[in-house]
Amino acid sequence: MNQSVTALAHPNIALIKYWGNRDHKLRLPSNGSISMNLAALETRSTVMFLPDLRADELILNGKPQKGAALSRVKDFMEVIRNSSGICGYAHIVSHNNFPASAGLASSASAFAALAVAGAAACGLDYSEKQLSRLARRGSGSAARSIPGGFVEWLGAPTDEGSYAFSIALADHWELWDCVALVSQTTKQTGSTEGHLLANTSMLQPARVSDAPRRLDLCRSAILHQDFAALAELIELDSHMLHAVMLTSRPSLLYWEPSSVSVMKAIASWRRQGIEAAFTLDAGPNVHVICTAAHAQIVTQKLKDIPGVAEVLASPVGEGARIIRRSEISNTI
Ligand code: DP6
Repeated sequence: MNQSVTALAHPNIALIKYWGNRDHKLRLPSNGSISMNLAALETRSTVMFLPDLRADELILNGKPQKGAALSRVKDFMEVIRNSSGICGYAHIVSHNNFPASAGLASSASAFAALAVAGAAACGLDYSEKQLSRLARRGSGSAARSIPGGFVEWLGAPTDEGSYAFSIALADHWELWDCVALVSQTTKQTGSTEGHLLANTSMLQPARVSDAPRRLDLCRSAILHQDFAALAELIELDSHMLHAVMLTSRPSLLYWEPSSVSVMKAIASWRRQGIEAAFTLDAGPNVHVICTAAHAQIVTQKLKDIPGVAEVLASPVGEGARIIRRSEISNTI
């Protein structure tokens, strides 16, 4: 009897960023990274392997997918099939509770949920470490959405060694990510394409070789709940990422004028005693990491900045997990 398995996963925001790969196919990153999961945002994915299908199918937010989105998922399902050796093609239904237009990277939660649901539906009884390695094959940052809370992904040079684990659980420190959604005028280059350009920047070797130091400082700031140390570090790490992007060939400029307005505002709020710090991924939205005590005021103040269209606020989230399993007959 086949199974239908539904899994839930949260996206994560990197505090120390992943940019560039040692191996693009296996998504072995050039450096380790640290992130926290975002509880308020989620992807739910249901996977069922059906004997009558001639190819994998993907319904995303109610719409059947084709083209690049489907072929990326097909490649990922092939990894699962090769590991189990028994499964046919899959019918996948996936839903995000955050708008696609928000420009938030959904690949982390998407591939984490797909790894958990897909492996279980295929009968693979995987550990957290194995699921993290599997999710990594779909999207590097998805490796970090498997474990809960504050998570470190090892930048090891081998498939076996490059997985993520919790460094502290979600309730260890009440931090929030208030994401300032900034209206965008240009189409951004996706992360997968961006990773390919990282080594064209002369600054990438400096960013990568200093990563172990930043990872140590970040781990320690999290474990000691030292907000001042964390703030300084994540802003530095974000700037190092964007320095590499800006100096790649071709150059990648993700910031919009209002991204810069938000960054400047945060510096002045911090001087006034508000515990908030920014970090930006491959897009113009500004993730404002703050303590729970300041999340409301930060959200309010962000909404007042011209160019900020909306603010999504989230506390730290758990890891990816199965939320439903049911037997299905072979005649669906
Ligand atoms: C800037 O994990 O989205 O957000 O592996 O190609 O899916 P793919 O890339 P992705 O890259 C994330 C890049 C980043 C930094 C980070 O999340 O660490």
